[in-house]
Parts: sequence; structure tokens; C-alpha cells
Amino acid sequence: MKEPMILNHPLLQHKVSHLRDVNTGTKEFKELVSEIAMLMCYEATRDLPTQEVEITTPITTDKFKVLAGRKLAVVPILRAGLGMVDGVLALIPAAKVGHIGLYRDPASLEPVEYYCKLPADISEREVMVVDPMLATGGSASDAITQIKKRGAKTIKFLCIIAAPEGIKRLHDTHPDVEIYAAALDKCLNEHGYIVPGLGDAGDRIFGTK
Ligand code: PRP
Ligand code: URA
Repeated sequence: MKEPMILNHPLLQHKVSHLRDVNTGTKEFKELVSEIAMLMCYEATRDLPTQEVEITTPITTDKFKVLAGRKLAVVPILRAGLGMVDGVLALIPAAKVGHIGLYRDPASLEPVEYYCKLPADISEREVMVVDPMLATGGSASDAITQIKKRGAKTIKFLCIIAAPEGIKRLHDTHPDVEIYAAALDKCLNEHGYIVPGLGDAGDRIFGTK
């Protein structure tokens, strides 16, 4: 069982606070989501394996560490997860990108899947599933179930804001999945929104409110 990682880095706290602000407009919101995703990706890739190779500097030849070539994939949960992809790819440009489309039914709060396209070799890749919000945890749990059904074995989940309810559900459903969050909020309100949260992440990223 993996304990959730709440990344209390001051840069993340600063950026997440601005993200929450109701006066932050679409352009800045999108930029902040991307920057936060990049910082989170830095933390979530700490355990990537390295290998030593011989490199000649202008001074001498010695052995140095480089990435051992583990294959990665990033899978945003559509649509809000799309906002995190650029930030992840800024650090790992060779990662393949899959997409899974889910929306949360506003009445039942249960996720409805409408799209899934993953790299053909997903079973050989370490997968980072990204979505800014982990509220009830229904979307993340279902997305990861579908991604596992298609062969993925090693999965991390990166969200910007998590609710305790979402962490519990995802943890109970997929105890093998490491959860990374930039902030852990208090609770959900009666509409399933995270409190204090930031509102509807997809609407704020794409300006559809
Ligand atoms: C939001 C968010 C997550 C989901 C979280 O997506 O981006 O995918 O809700 O809620 P849950 O943990 O209770 O499932 P939404 O359904 O609003 O779709 P969108 O990204 O298309 O706006
Ligand atoms: N989805 C969002 O975008 N925000 C929430 O607070 C909960 C679900």
C-alpha cells in the first residue's frame, strides 16, 4: 500500500493559491496548471532508474549517470487533464501521450467514459495519469481501471488538488497506484466540488464557464 504524497513545496503552494483565486483569468490559470504539472512531474520522477555511462568532459573522461531508458506515458483524463500534459512533456519530451475521456454525471457524480486511446505498448510503459482534481475519486478510479484493462502495470496518479474522499476511494480501488497531490483540501460540498478547491478545473482551463 502506497501512502499519498502531498507535495508541500513552497513554489507549489504559491502557485496553487493563485490557481484557487476566483479572479485568476483563463490565460494565467492555464499557465499555472502547466507550471504546477511540471513541478509535480519533477517530484514524481525521483525514482526513475539511472545507469552509468562514460562521458568525456573538456577536462577528463569519467562515468556519469543518465536515465536508464524506462519508457513513460502520460495519460490526461479529458478534459481538464489536458492542461497538465505540456508541463509533464517539458521534462520528459519522449513520453508518449494517451487520452481517456470521462465526464462526471452531474446528478449521480459517477464518471461516464466516452474515449480511450493509449500507446500500443502501454504495458511496457510507466504511466502517469494526470487530472487537476481528485474529488469523489470516481473519475480517477474508473480511468485507471480502464488503463489497467488495456495492459498498464505501473501507474502513478498526479492531481493538483485532492479531497480526502477521493484519496480514499482511489487508494481503496487501486492500492498499488501512487498518488501525488500538490494540495489536500478539507472536503466535498453537496455538489461534489472540492472545498475550498478552485471550482471547475475544466471550465477554468478552457474558458467555458
Ligand atoms: C472533473 C475533473 C475530474 C473529475 C473529478 O472533470 O477534471 O476528472 O471532475 O471528480 P471526481 O473525482 O468526483 O470524479 P469533469 O467531469 O468536470 O469533466 P471535464 O474535465 O470535461 O470538465
Ligand atoms: N471537478 C472539478 O473540476 N472541481 C471540483 O471541485 C470537483 C470536481
